[in-house]
Amino acid sequence: PPPRSLGCSPFLALISSTLLTQGQNCPSSCLCPDHHTVDCTGKGLTHVPDSIPLDVRRLLLSNNWIPWIPSDFLVLYSDLVYLDLRNNSLSLLEPGTLSTSSRLVFLDLGSNNLTEIPSGTFGESRSLIKLRLGNNPHLTMMGKDAFIGLTSLRELELERNGFTELDVSVLEPLPSLRKLRLEGNPWLCNCHFAKLFVWLTENRHKLPTGMEGIECSLPLNGRRIPLSLLSEDSFRECRGTLTLTDYLIVIFSGISVSVAAIMASFFLASTVHCFQRFSKGSKGDDDDGSD
Ligand SMILES: *[C@@H]1O[C@H](CO)[C@@H](O)[C@H](O)[C@H]1NC(C)=O
Ligand SMILES: *[C@@H]1O[C@H](CO)[C@@H](O)[C@H](O)[C@H]1NC(C)=O
Repeated sequence: PPPRSLGCSPFLALISSTLLTQGQNCPSSCLCPDHHTVDCTGKGLTHVPDSIPLDVRRLLLSNNWIPWIPSDFLVLYSDLVYLDLRNNSLSLLEPGTLSTSSRLVFLDLGSNNLTEIPSGTFGESRSLIKLRLGNNPHLTMMGKDAFIGLTSLRELELERNGFTELDVSVLEPLPSLRKLRLEGNPWLCNCHFAKLFVWLTENRHKLPTGMEGIECSLPLNGRRIPLSLLSEDSFRECRGTLTLTDYLIVIFSGISVSVAAIMASFFLASTVHCFQRFSKGSKGDDDDGSD
């Protein structure tokens, strides 16, 4: 594991020891079954409780109405290993909130109302092994580098969100990924889906539901079919579609060809012209000679 930031540790250690001398405090209405666990499951909370012990390792906050996590949350609770925020009212993660932790192993943000996972959200979460983001029905946007830095991540849940497409480069920087859930999204099997389809085919052993458990809508009639009925050949028309770069290449090669053609005809024309002059000249000499 990466070293903890040395700047903060003495400060936090001081605060923790101060709190410890005051005795183990448990937020009111929560349970603290052991020294490192705070369980506030289903307590009707509308914000993260105050007075959580700073050395908490397991924090259970599921089935509440929490709409927001303070952006310094994981800086404060830097020993947190297990954070369960399932079934709350989170709609936005402030930038930096989750990118600072270096110890979190399990994070559940499923069944909330998140709409976007911006690039760099999990920046330094190198210990994270399981990340649950499923059942956020309005989650449709994913930054290209949303999962960058999650080098230990083994399980990623993105099922039953609002995705119609996903840039495959979002999944590429996950070297430890073993299990990926993508089922229950309104995937569209159009040309944007082609690259993801190829990736899924190559990584089908990581899908607990297999290719048959993931469905996409056909572009023509909207009928939903399992991915197992498609093949790379189904997307062969997409190879014909040109990207902007392709268009630029075509335009510029067109221009270069025209320039080359103009230069060639100019060269040919002048050669012919010289040749004509030359033959005319020699003919003239001949004529002169004969006169
Ligand atoms: C989500 O939390 C609410 C509020 O506590 C609860 O009534 C509901 O049963 C929970 N849903 C699930 C699926 O656990
Ligand atoms: C969830 O987010 C969507 C889109 O931002 C919004 O329209 C909806 O009202 C939200 N739902 C809840 C329960 O907050």
